[in-house]
Amino acid sequence: VFDHVVRAPEDPILGVTVAYNKDPSPVKLNLGVGAYRTEEGKPLVLNVVRKAEQTLVNDSSRVKEYLPIVGLADFNKLSAKLILGADSPAIQENRVATVQSLSGTGSLRVGAEFLARHYHERTIYIPQPTWGNHPKVFGLGGLSVKTYRYYDPATRGLNFQGLLEDLGSAPSGSVVLLHACAHNPTGVDPTPEQWEQIRQLIRSKALLPFFDSAYQGFASGSLDTDALSVRMFVADGGECFVAQSYAKNMGLYGERVGALSIVCSSADVASRVESQLKLVIRPMYSNPPIHGASIVATILKDRTLFQEWTIELKAMADRIISMRHQLFEALRSRGTPGDWSHIIKQIGMFTFTGLNSEQVAFMTKEYHIYMTSDGRISMAGLSSKTVPHLADAIHAAATQ
Ligand code: LMR
Repeated sequence: VFDHVVRAPEDPILGVTVAYNKDPSPVKLNLGVGAYRTEEGKPLVLNVVRKAEQTLVNDSSRVKEYLPIVGLADFNKLSAKLILGADSPAIQENRVATVQSLSGTGSLRVGAEFLARHYHERTIYIPQPTWGNHPKVFGLGGLSVKTYRYYDPATRGLNFQGLLEDLGSAPSGSVVLLHACAHNPTGVDPTPEQWEQIRQLIRSKALLPFFDSAYQGFASGSLDTDALSVRMFVADGGECFVAQSYAKNMGLYGERVGALSIVCSSADVASRVESQLKLVIRPMYSNPPIHGASIVATILKDRTLFQEWTIELKAMADRIISMRHQLFEALRSRGTPGDWSHIIKQIGMFTFTGLNSEQVAFMTKEYHIYMTSDGRISMAGLSSKTVPHLADAIHAAATQ
């Protein structure tokens, strides 16, 4: 009965790893998926995560019962505090409905389905370009997806004018997806002054901001700095959605741990919203997994562990920044044609190199370097040892 089923293409990001795994070359390099690697090219489990896991294992009172539909209560409270700030009036006024969800993707999807059921405007504007999964998550979640201009290939920076024009002409009430920091795939963020202008425009047009916060602490190394955009929008007393992921900043990729917070106009609304979020979640995956959220809660509620986490997080962010400088210098020393200063100007996990899909295919074929076809490279997958190989490949691609 399934003879008619055609083979689906691999995922544009995760499929890069599938291709990489099949390549027997000893020099192969995976710069596709955004996953942190050490200088030795190995995945990293943070020490603080190991410690938290040990604490959990030693606690014999812990059981494997189902969590509530909305997840672990401590985790939810601490996650809202982490992104909105401990002194956020929205938290103090109990106006935030937070549910534990399956990392960033799951949080976005729950948010989308809630909006499709309970919000009067079904259109979401997403940046052009954006993370490849966004249009699928929101589309399948029941929203109609449109784009706003974001990136200017000529400057390899923000198309701020285009962004303001597109959001300015969006119908009032539309949802707007914003990357809280470290925009994926471009690594280009608005300045604080530009954020303020975006905020004023969004509020004046009664648009609804939906933040995707997948890199808090990973862009600048500071949890507070990377939450500035979100906090600006919450400080004005208006409503907003925030999807948080602990995949990158705690290295909990496969634990699938994240949260969706909906900042509402009153405590009463927030509690009704939470009751409806439960109706979204229950038929989707019933209730979320316990382990990852327990790790996060253990770290966030212990002052010493929290402090240790910020140090490890900063070390990851700093290593990525150092990779940017090393790659930039390596291209400069090779005399690679073009202006590569965007490598050090862009922030977060990715560099949007400007290499086209033919150049990417060339680099994969000739140099066994794997990256997404839009020219995005994960700086977190690079090390001092592999920078020369990548620089050689980019040089060859740029001069062929
Ligand atoms: C990425 O963009 O590489 C990450 O967010 C991983 C993913 O799930 O796509």
